[in-house]
Amino acid sequence: MGVKGLLGGVLLVAVGLNGQVAADEYEQGRELYRFYCSHCHNPGEGHPGTQMLASKKGVEQSVIREQQLPAEYIRTVVRRGLLEMAPFRPTEFNDAQLDELIKYLRADQP
Ligand code: HEC
Repeated sequence: MGVKGLLGGVLLVAVGLNGQVAADEYEQGRELYRFYCSHCHNPGEGHPGTQMLASKKGVEQSVIREQQLPAEYIRTVVRRGLLEMAPFRPTEFNDAQLDELIKYLRADQP
């Protein structure tokens, strides 16, 4: 694990657990999303992922958390990247963490 991944992991634990027991089964995925994806994929302006998807697929399909994208598709995009979106390596988050992230992305959870 590279220094960056290690730091990311430490930070995630600090932010995610905040000294408390995880709130629910989506906690880890939620924190991964907030840390690695939300600045590009949250709804609204100022989010490059959402804006790019809005221009390509339409506004109603621009927010990845509102789309019920297939898990395998999300996995492939995250690991290989997609045009403007750079791939994420297992040193940033491992496959088990990616599973948690995908579970959260596809869930109807705040
Ligand atoms: C630096 C900004 C950025 C970050 C960070 C980012 N993405 Fe993206 N993402 C994009 C852009 C831009 C696109 C549109 C790519 C294109 O089609 O040109 C995209 C596309 C996608 C798509 C395809 C959606 C569709 O409707 O086809 C998925 C899935 C996705 N991103 C998941 C994620 C996940 C999960 C994370 C966090 C691990 C993440 N992205 C982090 C910018 C980002």
